Amino acid sequence: MEVAGGMRKASSHASMAGEPDDFDLTRLLNHRPRINVERQRSFDDRSLADLSISGAASRGGGWGGYMESYESMYYSPGGGQRSFCGTPASSTRLSFEPHPLVFEAWDALRRSLVCFRGQPLGTIAAVHHSSDEVLNYDQVFVRDFVPSALAFLMNGEPEIVKNFLLKTLLLQGWEKRIDRFKLGEGAMPASFKVLKDPKRGVDRLVADFGESAIGRVAPVDSGFWWIILLRAYTKSTGDLSLAESPECQKGIRLIMNQCLAEGFDTLPTLLCADGCCMIDRRMGVYGYPIEIQALFFMALRCAVLMLKPDAAEGKETMERIATRLHAMSYHMRSYFWLDFQQLNDVYRYKTEEYSHTAVNKFNVIPESIPDWVFDFMPSRGGYFVGNVSPARMDFRWFALGNFVAILASLATPEQSAAIMDLVEERWEDLIGEMPLKISFPAIEAHEWQIVTGCDPKNTRWSYHNGGSWPVLLWLLTAACVKTGRLKIARRAIELAEARLARDGWPEYYDGKLGRYVGKQARKLQTWSVAGYLVAKMMLEDPSHLGMISLEEDKALKPSVLKRSASWTV
Ligand code: GLC
Repeated sequence: MEVAGGMRKASSHASMAGEPDDFDLTRLLNHRPRINVERQRSFDDRSLADLSISGAASRGGGWGGYMESYESMYYSPGGGQRSFCGTPASSTRLSFEPHPLVFEAWDALRRSLVCFRGQPLGTIAAVHHSSDEVLNYDQVFVRDFVPSALAFLMNGEPEIVKNFLLKTLLLQGWEKRIDRFKLGEGAMPASFKVLKDPKRGVDRLVADFGESAIGRVAPVDSGFWWIILLRAYTKSTGDLSLAESPECQKGIRLIMNQCLAEGFDTLPTLLCADGCCMIDRRMGVYGYPIEIQALFFMALRCAVLMLKPDAAEGKETMERIATRLHAMSYHMRSYFWLDFQQLNDVYRYKTEEYSHTAVNKFNVIPESIPDWVFDFMPSRGGYFVGNVSPARMDFRWFALGNFVAILASLATPEQSAAIMDLVEERWEDLIGEMPLKISFPAIEAHEWQIVTGCDPKNTRWSYHNGGSWPVLLWLLTAACVKTGRLKIARRAIELAEARLARDGWPEYYDGKLGRYVGKQARKLQTWSVAGYLVAKMMLEDPSHLGMISLEEDKALKPSVLKRSASWTV
């Protein structure tokens, strides 16, 4: 066993019982959070233009200078009380009567809490499961925990989020293998679970980095969500000590090293395998899927805000991030963006253009534009398409990528408004009777056979193939708050409230309008519950948006770069 950076390396199959990681966790946990809030200029306002590192270093190499103490003003059915596993906090401090579903949801969320050696550490994917599902769904999925974490942060209960961030960081330190192949150091698990060992009286952790996952895909999104959550925690509590700790700084750098590694790429977007994100099975989302690109962009922006420039490694990583962000925002805003005008331009593209003067840079053949796009595209509105790579534009609309693009300010303010316009214009298609379509439209027949490999779970208008996922409600609401389109969020939440609890908080709904509880949808799915709570809390107190949203960085303004210069600068 090797000891590196204070973290023990062990096989991912090995137990962590009674081992040195406890020391790290306890040491950091004993450190009382410094509760601060930014006044004039927070770390979030750090612009890429400020990343002349000497400038940042002269501000003290951290964010402390921008912070001052604050009083907690959380919306709090738990009254901000510390809650322990399995004990729903009671409502003591409410200034208004929340929707009855809110109490039911908090109760369900607390029932999903999982403890590790007496400390709440995360939420399992589904609270209730029939016996044959037990093996799969008592795991804490990193991506599933994000809405739960936000709900706890918004409710003034940051400890569980801190425990989660620290524990997953320790898991990152494990040696990860799939057969005889060793995974990159930075990889974060898709999920982990706590195994109770009544005989030895200790808990053990078992993590999955893709070696158990269906299709053996490593979750590229986990590391990005981890960084995004670390920033949300910092922003919400003002506790800088966690993100500034050498362990977290190293964790961020490892993730960055992995996704910024140089290869043969000609594009600044991140190349990845099918099924490496929320859509975690073959669905034609390989290459440069929008979900990963938007999360990648957001994680880069969060990382650059949190990295300490005083260490040489931090400074170097920050410079690489800044360069990548510039290239990515230009690329995404230009080539992934589709609106009526752009669609018309693609429709009229010439093909086989050689040299850097080409307009149709990726050689998209107009005949490959599917018929449905012409009807779907309103005169008012637009969106980031699903994927762009040589001779391939995936015209499908994906919810997560588009809303994260708004939150990360990857979309310009005009593009953000257009994405919301599209939701309004295509309400039936994208929201229907249950928010929110994961992707639109469904793929069918021969295309379904080819693209999914005949996946019986991803038949048309089901699951990842045009199914409706209540968890996405929190992202829709956050995007609405950011763009000032609260009416959309209210309408969507009302639809969810009419059915979600009655149907038992299913994982997803099926059908063109999302009318039917999904064929194999699990009930009491934790992130359906948490997504609803986050949406409600955000609407009631829009200031919560700050923890999950980044303002536009002026240094990334499109006017700075001219389209024709893209291949030469
Ligand atoms: C499904 C989803 C995935 C989620 C997991 C646990 O596989 O596709 O995104 O993380 O269930 O809920």
